Formats: sequence, C-alpha cells, structure tokens
Amino acid sequence: MSNKAKIAVLVSGGGTNLQALIDAQGQGILKNGSIELVVSNNANAYALTRAQNAGIQTACILKREYADQAAFEQAIKDVLAQHGIDLIVLAGFMAILSEDFTSAYPKRIINVHPSLIPSFCGKGFYGLRVHEAALEKGVKVTGATVHFVNEIPDGGEIILQKAVEVQEGDTPEVLQKRVMEQAEWKLLPAAVELVSKKIVKE
Ligand code: GAR
Repeated sequence: MSNKAKIAVLVSGGGTNLQALIDAQGQGILKNGSIELVVSNNANAYALTRAQNAGIQTACILKREYADQAAFEQAIKDVLAQHGIDLIVLAGFMAILSEDFTSAYPKRIINVHPSLIPSFCGKGFYGLRVHEAALEKGVKVTGATVHFVNEIPDGGEIILQKAVEVQEGDTPEVLQKRVMEQAEWKLLPAAVELVSKKIVKE
C-alpha cells in the first residue's frame, strides 16, 4: 500500500479523543493516516459536530434501527467498505462489537481505554466508571492504554500505555480530565500514527 492509511473513527459521545486526532492531523503528528470518516452510534454525539467542523464525512448508525447486533454491525461494515477504510479507531465508542466484527479486521481496530490495562477494564468498565473504580480501590497511579481490539473486551495486544498520578481529593471527573490531558490525547494520535505507518509500508 502507498499514500496514507484511510481511517474511520467510531464515537459515541463528546469526542475529545477524536478532536486530538483531528488536531494531530493538522499538526503533522498524524502523517501516515488520513481521517476519512466518523461513525457514531448516537445521533446527539458532540463528536459529530467536531467531525463536521473539520470537514470530515459522518455516518450515524443507531442500533435501535436494526433488527439485531448482526444487522447493526453489517451496517457499520458497509459504510467502512464504501469509504475503503484501512484502520478503525474506537475513540469513546460505547458499544461492544462481536467476534464476527472484530475478526473481520485483525490488527486493524484500535481502542483507547482510560486505565492501565489489565486494571479496571473489560465488561462494564467504560467512561467515568473506570475512574470511579480506580478511586474506590485507592490506586495511586492510573493511566491510559491504546490496544488492538480482538474478541476479548479490552483484551487485545497493547500498543502504547502511559501512567498518570492519582492525587489526594480527586473526584472521578477530575481524574478523568487528568488522564485525558496527560495520556489519552497524546497516546491515541501517537498509536494511530504508528499503526498507519505499518499499514502504509505493507
Ligand atoms: C475516554 O476517556 C475514553 O478513553 C473512554 O471514554 C472516554 C470518551 O471520551 N473509553 C472507554 O471507556 C472505552 N472502554 P471522548 O468521547 O471525549 O473521547
């Protein structure tokens, strides 16, 4: 393959990680990949506005509009194929994808998770809940992980990981913001560039 890896970013919410990728592309940090498409499973996701502001095409695929998980996933696959996508980035995408989906894109789906995997990950650990669990446990160090996605939730090979200190008096919201600022928003663009570079060389 030559030129740039075509990237789709899958989102559900605010899209600050999507924004970090858009900014990284603007700054030339992401240079071997190009964000071609943003797919949301939530019509009200602010991430869609971020994509539109950046001139990136969007697709909204709502699970309730499909008969079952397989039909929902097929709709995602169809839009990815229409855009010739090489790399799928889950950036705050709050839906579980089945093995049927993940096995169709081996080492071509990556996810950002707001903890140091294997801590505070897997089923039920997403968004603020991850930080609530970390504070409940009393860990002094947490962080973020970018990993390949396989059939095990948060179980794929780790690409990059960064530690962030927990501070006295942290609330889940305060800790979430620190983990995003110090880890996720840097780690995700760096990992996407790493994987894009590999894809381009193939
Ligand atoms: C981020 O903290 C991301 O790591 C987390 O949701 C947040 C989405 O924020 N993802 C998960 O918990 C996945 N298991 P964003 O929409 O502002 O990027």
